[in-house]
Amino acid sequence: RVPTVGIDIGGTKVMAGVVDADGNILEKVRTETPDKSKSPKVVEDTIAELVLDLSDRHDVHAVGIGAAGWVDADRNRVLFAPHLSWRNEPLRDRLSGRLSVPVLVDNDANTAAWAEWRFGAGRGEDHLVMITLGTGIGGAILEDGQVKRGKYGVAGEFGHMQVVPGGHRCPCGNRGCWEQYSSGNALVREARELAAADSPVAYGIIEHVKGNISDITGPMITELAREGDAMCIELLQDIGQWLGVGIANLAAALDPSCFVIGGGVSAADDLLIGPARDAFRRHLTGRGYRPEARIARAQLGPEAGMVGAADLARLVARRFRRAK
Ligand code: BGC
Ligand code: NA
Ligand code: ZN
Repeated sequence: RVPTVGIDIGGTKVMAGVVDADGNILEKVRTETPDKSKSPKVVEDTIAELVLDLSDRHDVHAVGIGAAGWVDADRNRVLFAPHLSWRNEPLRDRLSGRLSVPVLVDNDANTAAWAEWRFGAGRGEDHLVMITLGTGIGGAILEDGQVKRGKYGVAGEFGHMQVVPGGHRCPCGNRGCWEQYSSGNALVREARELAAADSPVAYGIIEHVKGNISDITGPMITELAREGDAMCIELLQDIGQWLGVGIANLAAALDPSCFVIGGGVSAADDLLIGPARDAFRRHLTGRGYRPEARIARAQLGPEAGMVGAADLARLVARRFRRAK
């Protein structure tokens, strides 16, 4: 029952933590994600440094990585990552060579779903769908205690379903992807656009960043919304509405009993989830004549991906010890 390390590599931040067998975080460190223009090696170095730092104070027996990318069926390669520089990158082999402990690699939303099912808002659910709102939208399907990975490992890439024909460009190569309308990036893009247009509704946030529009961030918008800023409240409502529409579509396809909403943007809580629930009820097909899935906020918050990665690494390490 020794602690393991979990690392969540998102489009903006890398979070690493030592997590015990009950999902408690014993220590956590975080840093910025290296710029997308940097080589995959730089991200690898960042991971290795974080693990080394934590190893100074903890016995590290296994490392789990939740990566914001499309992980193959063998859970070794990151095939593609819209917000990172990985292209067919054998991340697990590279890291286990460097760290000399068992390493697990999975998609960040998959590890978040696992954590919420084990320790959080999804406990006891046998049909759970996870949505993480961060830089993009992550997704996972967890049924009967298992993450459904599809044939090639990349099931659950909900963020890249088209919701607006001819809509905003997405780094995945398409237009109108769901994550262009309901994510941290979407939130920041909209706020910056309004500020750049010098719209009176944006005066509050313009003043807050002293005119430096590029300083506007997602957490800032949430904070201002909490303080009552009308534009920030409205932007979170928009994101929430798009979230609800997408969830209604997912209910049509997957019919889960529970949707868990995580990722950094979920910190906005009711400012986001309220509008999402309303839109979900208005868009659900067959509404009024079918049971409605519960929509819950991730209990482990933005740490779900990290905690889940650590827990999955524990399982892999155990298998590894038995095989020896
Ligand atoms: C990626 C996913 C990832 C999500 C959240 C999306 O753009 O395609 O693989 O899970 O962002 O980080
Ligand atoms: Na996924
Ligand atoms: Zn896309």
